[in-house]
Amino acid sequence: MDFFVLGLTALAGVSALDIKVANTGGNATSGKQYGIMFEDINHSGDGGIYAELIRNRAFQGSAVFPSTIEPWTSIGDAQLSLQNLSDPLSSALPTSLNVAASSGKVGISNPGYWGIEVKVQQYNGSFWVKGNYNGSFTASLYDYLSNETVGSVEVPSNASASEWQEHSFTLTPEKAAGVNNTFQITFDASATDGSLDFNLISLFPPTYNNRPNGMRPDLMEALKGLNPSFLRFPGGNNLEGNDPPYYLKWNETIGPLKDRPGYPGTWSYENTNGLGLVEYLHWCDDLGMEPVLAVWAGFYLDDPVIPEDELQPYIDDALNELDFIMGDQNTNYGALRASLGYPDPWTINYIEVGNEDNLGGGGSSYESYRFQAFKYAINEKYPDILVMASTADFDFAETEDAGEDYHQYTRSDYFVSQFNFFDNFITGFKTMIGEYAAVQPNIPEGGGTDWNAARWAFPMWIGTVSEAVFLIGAERNADKMFGAAYAPLFQNLDSYEWAPDLISYSANTSADVLSTSYHMIQLMSAHRISTTLPIDSPSFDPVYYVAGHSNSSDSYILKSAIYNSTETVSMSVTFDGVSEGAEGTLTVLTAPDPFSYNDVGSDVVKNTTISLTAGSDGVFEFDLDDLSISVLEVKA
Ligand SMILES: *[C@@H]1O[C@H](CO)[C@@H](O)[C@H](O)[C@H]1NC(C)=O
Ligand SMILES: *[C@@H]1O[C@H](CO)[C@@H](O)[C@H](O)[C@H]1NC(C)=O
Ligand SMILES: *[C@@H]1O[C@H](CO)[C@@H](O)[C@H](O)[C@H]1NC(C)=O
Ligand SMILES: *[C@@H]1O[C@H](CO)[C@@H](O)[C@H](O)[C@H]1NC(C)=O
Ligand SMILES: *[C@@H]1O[C@H](CO)[C@@H](O)[C@H](O)[C@H]1NC(C)=O
Ligand SMILES: *[C@@H]1O[C@H](CO)[C@@H](O)[C@H](O)[C@H]1NC(C)=O
Ligand SMILES: *[C@@H]1O[C@H](CO)[C@@H](O)[C@H](O)[C@H]1NC(C)=O
Ligand SMILES: *[C@@H]1O[C@H](CO)[C@@H](O)[C@H](O)[C@H]1NC(C)=O
Ligand SMILES: *[C@@H]1O[C@H](CO)[C@@H](O)[C@H](O)[C@H]1NC(C)=O
Ligand SMILES: *[C@@H]1O[C@H](CO)[C@@H](O)[C@H](O)[C@H]1NC(C)=O
Ligand SMILES: *[C@@H]1O[C@H](CO)[C@@H](O)[C@H](O)[C@H]1NC(C)=O
Ligand SMILES: *[C@@H]1O[C@H](CO)[C@@H](O)[C@H](O)[C@H]1NC(C)=O
Repeated sequence: MDFFVLGLTALAGVSALDIKVANTGGNATSGKQYGIMFEDINHSGDGGIYAELIRNRAFQGSAVFPSTIEPWTSIGDAQLSLQNLSDPLSSALPTSLNVAASSGKVGISNPGYWGIEVKVQQYNGSFWVKGNYNGSFTASLYDYLSNETVGSVEVPSNASASEWQEHSFTLTPEKAAGVNNTFQITFDASATDGSLDFNLISLFPPTYNNRPNGMRPDLMEALKGLNPSFLRFPGGNNLEGNDPPYYLKWNETIGPLKDRPGYPGTWSYENTNGLGLVEYLHWCDDLGMEPVLAVWAGFYLDDPVIPEDELQPYIDDALNELDFIMGDQNTNYGALRASLGYPDPWTINYIEVGNEDNLGGGGSSYESYRFQAFKYAINEKYPDILVMASTADFDFAETEDAGEDYHQYTRSDYFVSQFNFFDNFITGFKTMIGEYAAVQPNIPEGGGTDWNAARWAFPMWIGTVSEAVFLIGAERNADKMFGAAYAPLFQNLDSYEWAPDLISYSANTSADVLSTSYHMIQLMSAHRISTTLPIDSPSFDPVYYVAGHSNSSDSYILKSAIYNSTETVSMSVTFDGVSEGAEGTLTVLTAPDPFSYNDVGSDVVKNTTISLTAGSDGVFEFDLDDLSISVLEVKA
């Protein structure tokens, strides 16, 4: 910890701290303190948590990102070209790939999302073809390091010149082959009329809970390790879209993949919308999370705002979405849901109207009409839904019986200075910290983020500790705070435009990076406080703490984090009613230095778990170092 010791005088010098925790007089918590937030940021959905292996599977394009053949390449002497046929696969997927050759074995090859991992497991694939072909296709996985086919299957042609035909197959490689593989489809050109058209070429490995069109098991397991209580989706900026007419339209993310047009997301690529509304709800089901659903609020990121007298269709659209999710089968959209194979409705208790509507040119219209218009319409039909504003800048929570979503990306000193930030917020679980992260090193003059300066590539330990301090401040205000979610959640190490992120990954499912902040959240989330407990004359800085009782484990909990301490702190902790001989467990997270971070193959976080016994008068004594995060749990 030399970094902090060198000649600095401003540091707090506390060497001992007595904490006396009462056993009545606290506040109940929402029970949902820790959750996750997701949006598709440069392939964290497509090619990320969504398990599709084929990149650019349906040549989806728009005026913003025109359709492209990339990254497909030809096999043999096939000529590849994109075409908009007069009878496309679907109106949603108008562009297909024409593969032309006069003879020989030809075809197409796809490198996946920067690699395709090959294991001895079942891959399920499908592709659509149009054109005459009397033969069979070979679908295969090809290792381009060894130039070997590592698994293949013959798929008899059902192709016809008069209509698109889907071809489905399963493929189980004979041996594992790392990630430097391509997926290939080949055919005998001499048995065609000179070319075939292809579209929607898809390949999935086994998915989490074996759901069709499902999620990557390793990333879902990583999330499960956080024990998350809610999922905020589908954004984030990606919900908003940049310019008319493109924003995330829920109704274009449901049903068969061939009916999902995709759209140009905010993060510089065309989204497939393969990860759609139903997939998000299954994700909630699979990890036992409460959905916190965001609806589009009439504001594009590049500023156009829907005028008040034109807003109604978008409000209706949000109500239609709720009908689709919650309606019984006698409603129009409930019937649509049932027709897609989901007869049972889901429940939504939390809606967020838009995203960060205080930013750009959105603030004045949000304050004057946009938020209220959505809020009143939703609560008129669904009085029990907590409708949340996408910012805490306005007084909606106070004046409109609404919730609010506070975001903070900043530096570690600033997070720590905000320990008391929520002290004057209003009660009733109205405020969510829907996005937070320490993103840059401290600067001598203090202050917040410089968006023009570089951000950390991965969460750094000093940032992680400051986040813990901020979260402990939120937990102390547990009667006000709904929950908190780090953002962004995922980073595809082969294509990203935002750092730091909570979890990093690549095509290699054994190489996921669980960041330092992941470990902090895992610890905080694993020890849930049901009711906070008062502390006798608390004093903070450099030790920040919150105490409470857990109903599920019937235990007392003290969470603490130390920031900017010159000395090791000797802690003496008592819980009212806990006497000599009581057993406790102390878990302490530390890292080698403030700028330690986790990268592929390395984990710097040290997790020390020790058993403690209360001494005379029920005192638990232990030492904590600067930049440590700890939880003491004692059976009541
Ligand atoms: C409970 O909430 C009230 C009102 O916000 C606050 O004054 C009090 O300090 C809280 N109690 C605890 C134990 O945090
Ligand atoms: C197909 O149509 C889209 C518009 O829907 C257009 O942007 C694209 O250029 C067309 N592609 C071809 C190959 O004609
Ligand atoms: C193998 O795949 C990895 C991950 O996509 C990539 O970084 C690397 O360049 C590839 N190596 C070769 C030899 O293709
Ligand atoms: C694979 O093929 C490429 C291109 O033909 C060649 O450069 C490379 O040496 C081959 N690798 C092996 C392991 O045979
Ligand atoms: C070809 O079509 C037949 C009849 O529709 C169907 O049973 C078969 O599964 C199809 N084959 C493939 C590979 O999709
Ligand atoms: C995948 O990642 C693991 C863990 O880092 C590593 O041991 C393995 O070599 C990687 N596999 C490939 C094919 O790169
Ligand atoms: C496919 O077989 C049918 C019947 O034998 C024949 O009429 C047709 O010309 C063949 N088509 C191609 C493209 O070879
Ligand atoms: C893959 O296909 C098999 C049938 O061959 C099916 O049992 C399984 O559920 C499918 N898996 C996924 C993830 O779709
Ligand atoms: C989805 O809803 C939007 C807004 O109501 C509408 O503009 C669009 O046409 C709809 N898309 C489809 C495929 O119905
Ligand atoms: C931590 O210590 C540094 C160096 O004295 C000081 O600049 C900074 O304000 C302190 N941060 C906090 C949150 O106390
Ligand atoms: C985001 O994704 C698009 C499409 O794959 C790519 O062109 C762009 O370079 C990516 N941005 C970054 C920063 O990786
Ligand atoms: C710390 O270690 C304990 C005991 O091995 C384990 O149960 C817990 O999940 C770990 N916690 C973190 C945050 O790594």
